[in-house]
Amino acid sequence: MSADPQSAAAREARPAAAPAGAARIPLSVPDLRGREKAYLAACVDDNWISSAGPRIAEFERAIARAAGAAHGVALVNGTCALELALRVAGVGPGMAVIVPDWTFVATANAVRHIGAEPHFVDVTAESWTLDPALATEALAASDRPVGAIVPVHALGHPADLDPIRALADAHGLPVVEDAAGAIGARYKGRPVGAGAAPAVMFSFNGNKLLTAGAGGALVTDDAAFAERARLLSAQARRGDAYRHEELAFNYRMSNVNAAIGLAQAERLDEMTAARRATAAAYRGALDGSRRLAFMPRADWAEPNGWMSVVHCADAETAAALIEAMDAAGIDARPFWEPLSEQPAYRDSPRTLAGVAARFSGRTVALPCSSSLAAADRARVIAVLERFR
Ligand SMILES: Cc1ncc(COP(=O)(O)O)c(C=O)c1O
Repeated sequence: MSADPQSAAAREARPAAAPAGAARIPLSVPDLRGREKAYLAACVDDNWISSAGPRIAEFERAIARAAGAAHGVALVNGTCALELALRVAGVGPGMAVIVPDWTFVATANAVRHIGAEPHFVDVTAESWTLDPALATEALAASDRPVGAIVPVHALGHPADLDPIRALADAHGLPVVEDAAGAIGARYKGRPVGAGAAPAVMFSFNGNKLLTAGAGGALVTDDAAFAERARLLSAQARRGDAYRHEELAFNYRMSNVNAAIGLAQAERLDEMTAARRATAAAYRGALDGSRRLAFMPRADWAEPNGWMSVVHCADAETAAALIEAMDAAGIDARPFWEPLSEQPAYRDSPRTLAGVAARFSGRTVALPCSSSLAAADRARVIAVLERFR
């Protein structure tokens, strides 16, 4: 460490700045300030606590509306929703599925659960989402038949859907979008979920902008697709008879989860605005920084601000930032690592250009809850400024 008191290392090493008695600032926590409690109480009062009940259909309608889609199917979580969507779209064993190299492992796991194999394609530096030009190369290079393209709207930032859909059309492939954390985001003015070709998946787990406690959904404009997904999510049982014509799953969401999700959906705009404001404040504070780059925002995108992530110049800076945040009573965490580097996917095919590789050990997620108070946001920014 340098002795120069003006040096970056000396500024970072200053003692913790947590105000006396200040509570620790969490990374991303549920914001349950709406009608969650009332809707949950109604589940108990009415005795609807399992995988049937009135809130499920209401939640499905709310999600489809928010996503600009005709149909919504509420499911047990996002991973199962993606797996189901891929199955209904015709993906099967022995196929390859185009998946970005930088996403949560659930995207690839859903593909593997079907018996298909992810083909990892790099992301672009301008959006941190699937690179359409490299996806074109991957389609040409794949020695397995490709079953689908899965763009991920990473961190609530939309992928560049137009070239991806054009590529898929040219090859007669379905596009199943992983919009796990992207509800409320917009692509070229339309909500993520609109124009599904054929399906878009959302997750509502506890760290999402909109949570149902646990849960997921798929949305589609295709009534037959929604009906088939619903059938397969419920043991392929039609009506009340115990007759099952094919292998299926129990992937249904419970009325209790739907009750929480419905109350959350009522506040989607408000919670999105709060997360966007935090992202804008961090972006502004890091403008021109040499060592910390705030996540990009492409010109086609209105991200929902689900996560706020910085890309550090090197792994040492990332570790020092997390340490300084911790000392100041702030949760900041290392973020996703490229999937092509995961032992579980060591042998998967890949078409990479070195972009996601530069994220390895260098991305840090910052507090972004929609309930984050302005004073707490200022505490985070005070630490960020020591790393500019
Ligand atoms: C990009 C991405 N895909 C899939 C998932 C899986 O969703 P779930 O945890 O609801 O199964 C997540 C969850 O965080 C995610 O971030």
